[in-house]
Amino acid sequence: GAGMRRRLLEAHRIAAEYFAEQLASPEARIARDFLRERGFDREAAQMFGCGYAPQGWSHLTEHLRGKNFTEAELKASGLVSEGQRGIYDRFRGRLVWPIREVTGDVIGFGARRLHEDDQGPKYLNTPETQLYKKAHVLYGLDLAKGTIRSERTAVVVEGYTDVMACHLAGVTNAVATCGTAFGEDHVKVVRRLMGDTGQAQLKVGSTGAKVIFTFDGDEAGQNAALKSFALDQQFLAQTFVAVDPEGLDPCDIRQRDGDDAVRRLMDRRVPLFEFVIRAALAQHDLETPEGRVAALRTAVPIVSQIRDRALRPEYARRLAGWLGMEPADVVGAVSRAS
Ligand code: GTP
Ligand code: MN
Ligand code: MN
Ligand code: MN
Ligand code: MN
Repeated sequence: GAGMRRRLLEAHRIAAEYFAEQLASPEARIARDFLRERGFDREAAQMFGCGYAPQGWSHLTEHLRGKNFTEAELKASGLVSEGQRGIYDRFRGRLVWPIREVTGDVIGFGARRLHEDDQGPKYLNTPETQLYKKAHVLYGLDLAKGTIRSERTAVVVEGYTDVMACHLAGVTNAVATCGTAFGEDHVKVVRRLMGDTGQAQLKVGSTGAKVIFTFDGDEAGQNAALKSFALDQQFLAQTFVAVDPEGLDPCDIRQRDGDDAVRRLMDRRVPLFEFVIRAALAQHDLETPEGRVAALRTAVPIVSQIRDRALRPEYARRLAGWLGMEPADVVGAVSRAS
C-alpha cells in the first residue's frame, strides 16, 4: 500500500546518498577512473548522482538495517537479493546511477560492472518492484521533461552514459530505457509529456511532436531500430533515427570529438522510414538488375506499412530514386501491395 511505497522511496533516498558517499572511498577509485575516462568530471557525476556500490555482501543491507528497515521492506525494495543464508546486497563493486521518477524520487538503480573478475552481467538493474516497472521507466526523464515539453521532441538513447553525454553536450531532452527495449508503455509516457493525445484521427506528425532514436551501429542497435518501426505505427509523432556512420554511441562521440559532435549527430537524423528502408536495401547488391529487383521486393512491404496515405507515394518515389528505377513503377508496386 501507500505506507510501503513511502518506506521504499525512503530506502532509495538513503541508498542513493550512501552510494554517492562511497564514490569518494579508496576502493571506488576504479569507478572514478571510469567516469574520468568517459569524460565525466566530478560535477557531472554529482549532477547525475553517480555512486559506487562497495564490494562485499552486506554494506548497504547493514546500513539500512541500522536505519530500522525490516527484512520484508529490504526484500520489497529490490536493493537486496535473497540466498539460502538470507539477504545480501544486490549491487556490489559497481558504478551506480540512481534512476528517478519524473518527480525526481529515486525508484531504482542501474549499475555497471567495473572489475575484470566480476562474473555478473555488464549492467545490472533493479528488478521489478512496487516502485520500479522497467516497461515505464525512462532514465533521465526528471532532467529531460522540461525540454521535452518545450521542444516537443524527445531523444531516446541506449544507456546511462549516453544520457549523461547528451545532457552535458546540451541535448537536454535525452532519456534511455533501462535494460529493455523502448516499448508501448514508454511511448505513452513520452506522448503524455508532449501533449500528444494519441487520437486515431490525427495524422502522423500533425501534433508536431518528434522522437529521435539513437542506436549503436551494432546488430543489437539495428534490431532495436527495426522494432521501433512497429511502434511508430501508434506513435503520433515524427520519428527519426540518428546513427553515427562509424557506429559510435553518444558517449563515445563526445569522448572522441566533443560536445559539438553530439549535437551534430542529432542534426544528421533521418526519418525512421528512410532508415528502415535503406537498411533493407543494404542487404542487396544494387549494382545488378537482379539485386535491385530483390531489393524492391524487400522494401515494398515496408513502404506499404506507412500509415499516412499521403506519405506512402512520397516514400515510393524516394525508393525509386535510391534504386534508380522509374518512380511510376515503384509507386504502382506499393499501391498494389497496400
Ligand atoms: P559502456 O561500455 O558502458 O559504454 O557500454 P556500451 O555503450 O557498450 O553499452 P551497450 O550499448 O552495450 O549498453 C547500453 C545500455 O544497454 C546500458 O546502459 C544498459 O541499460 C543496457 N545493457 C547493456 N548491457 C546489459 C546487460 O548485460 N544487462 C542488462 N540488463 N542491460 C544491459
Ligand atoms: Mn576486482
Ligand atoms: Mn550496444
Ligand atoms: Mn552503447
Ligand atoms: Mn557506450
